[in-house]
Amino acid sequence: MICLIITLLIFGSVNCQKFPSGLSLTKPSCNNHQGDSRIVGGENAPIRYPYVVSLQMQSRGGGPGFFFFQQPRSNYSHFCGGSIVNEDHIVTAAHCIQGFNVSRLSVFAGVNDLRDEEHGTRRFIDNCVINPDYVELNNSDIAVCKLKTPLVFSENISAITLSSEYVGGGVNCTLVGWGYTSMIRGTPLPNNLQRAFLPTITNQECNERGQNVGPREICTMSRFGVGACGGDSGGPLTCNDALAGIVSYGSRICAMGVPDVYTRASEYIDFIEENSM
Ligand SMILES: *[C@@H]1O[C@H](CO)[C@@H](O)[C@H](O)[C@H]1NC(C)=O
Ligand SMILES: *[C@@H]1O[C@H](CO)[C@@H](O)[C@H](O)[C@H]1NC(C)=O
Ligand SMILES: *[C@@H]1O[C@H](CO)[C@@H](O)[C@H](O)[C@H]1NC(C)=O
Ligand SMILES: *[C@@H]1O[C@H](CO)[C@@H](O)[C@H](O)[C@H]1NC(C)=O
Ligand SMILES: *[C@@H]1O[C@H](CO)[C@@H](O)[C@H](O)[C@H]1NC(C)=O
Repeated sequence: MICLIITLLIFGSVNCQKFPSGLSLTKPSCNNHQGDSRIVGGENAPIRYPYVVSLQMQSRGGGPGFFFFQQPRSNYSHFCGGSIVNEDHIVTAAHCIQGFNVSRLSVFAGVNDLRDEEHGTRRFIDNCVINPDYVELNNSDIAVCKLKTPLVFSENISAITLSSEYVGGGVNCTLVGWGYTSMIRGTPLPNNLQRAFLPTITNQECNERGQNVGPREICTMSRFGVGACGGDSGGPLTCNDALAGIVSYGSRICAMGVPDVYTRASEYIDFIEENSM
């Protein structure tokens, strides 16, 4: 996915950052962290990931977008990812929805190409439950959202597998998302779902490499130039074909050789299940 560098982020002080697109959320107390998540250094996903959804915001109504975006915009813009839990619920990051009027948010499912309105399915969000332990850039960055009308499962739309397995270091995992894919400022978000294989590191190694993570988080770390970026937030990191992480935060400039941090999904199985009944 692409890495968009936002001027504010460049000139802001050193901070953690979360990874929704277009939002610069920073926290002054996180050395070395920056929290915009985008997949940089990935590839167009060559297959379907039927459990991933694009979380979209209603824009002003389809006209041309902001001045330097030449493409006419659709009525909806991607800002975060999510995963399908069942026909009625998705799981995403708390920071993706906190502070929003969720009745303006929708999920777009069933396609790799976000322009494919014909094959995609849109569902509006009814309400979301943010984990009560959520602390920005620190802990429990997870939320479950209920859809106004259920999804219809098919070969292109299905639930992600939840697993209570504790994933340690050195596991080859898969990150998919529509976050930024390059570090060039002003680069638009990709239309095509991006994919990268990312190895996990242990939480201890993650701390040694400059993130300050707790036991309910999980980190990946790849080579320079590969990692999550703005717009990947809330999306799924799967290990052994099950949800292991929910994109939470990372370095301000994406894929800079600093670990990406995810909410450790196995710690929240009860939270997910209780809120998706
Ligand atoms: C966008 O919204 C406008 C006004 O509501 C509508 O006329 C148009 O068909 C919409 N475009 C798409 C692609 O949904
Ligand atoms: C949220 O948005 C809906 C639809 O636009 C509106 O009716 C409602 O009043 C809004 N709620 C708040 C708290 O702003
Ligand atoms: C799944 O997606 C493919 C490619 O867009 C499409 O040809 C197919 O009809 C879709 N299947 C369903 C059940 O929607
Ligand atoms: C990770 O898994 C993918 C898919 O099976 C594979 O293509 C890739 O080579 C693996 N990467 C490593 C470093 O093992
Ligand atoms: C961040 O989370 C850790 C545990 O994961 C906790 O010990 C620490 O107090 C938290 N810091 C803040 C500022 O909440």
